[in-house]
Amino acid sequence: MSDVHLRLSGVHRHYGEGPTQVRVLESADLEVRAGEMVAIVAPSGAGKSTLLHVSGLLERPQAGEVEITGTPTRGLNERGRTLMRRLSIGYVYQFHHLLPEFSALENVILPQMIAGIDPKAAAARAQELLDLLGIGPRALHRPAELSGGEQQRVAIARAAANHPRLILADEPTGNLDPETSTRVFDNLLELIARENAAALIATHNHDLARRAHRIVTLRAGRIEPITL
Ligand SMILES: Nc1ncnc2c1ncn2[C@@H]1O[C@H](COP(=O)(O)OP(=O)(O)OP(=O)(O)O)[C@@H](O)[C@H]1O
Ligand SMILES: [Mg+2]
Repeated sequence: MSDVHLRLSGVHRHYGEGPTQVRVLESADLEVRAGEMVAIVAPSGAGKSTLLHVSGLLERPQAGEVEITGTPTRGLNERGRTLMRRLSIGYVYQFHHLLPEFSALENVILPQMIAGIDPKAAAARAQELLDLLGIGPRALHRPAELSGGEQQRVAIARAAANHPRLILADEPTGNLDPETSTRVFDNLLELIARENAAALIATHNHDLARRAHRIVTLRAGRIEPITL
């Protein structure tokens, strides 16, 4: 199996048609390898979320190819894309989107149940991840009973639950204080190293971006390396 867990080749993503058309990605190319965290830093509206949606198979590009763990996805139907997302991709949103009526532990168990994992094994994996992220003692609390940083760590645990080869995160620390942001970001780095996953993280925070292995930006719809 290829160790390039995400490869974008010549990806175009436009919204709308005619004079109001917005061209967001124009021949975007990117590779993210196993064990590597790439940070994407670009101004608001540059297309970071679009890039993550396309990489996470939440949106289809109008042209180009998105390969996940070496598998081209252009020819997949919706069912195939859903399966690929479920098995290979973990997604962390800016606002965690945890299920409010379930505990932290249950939120991390659920995606595993959907993937057909035995409930006992799923619970053990969930507890292991919460422990790793330093929130083990909070496992039985509901999201509303957790701090913002704790909620975000549950969201990371949930994204990592099924051992995804690719973790995508859209400003995962966007609404946290600087100290908590650093802690959550370092948790994410540790997890990626441990699971040998690939990660693409959008952030506006330059200090955090510098902790990643590589930093890229979006310029005129293309992905370019930068140093901050
Ligand atoms: N569904 C859509 N329909 C039309 N235009 C869209 C749509 N989604 C995004 N856009 C436009 O595409 C451009 C890129 O948006 P995107 O959300 O990817 O930016 P971003 O870099 O994530 O910005 P931010 O830092 O504010 O989150 C913006 O100009 C936006 O208005
Ligand atoms: Mg965005």
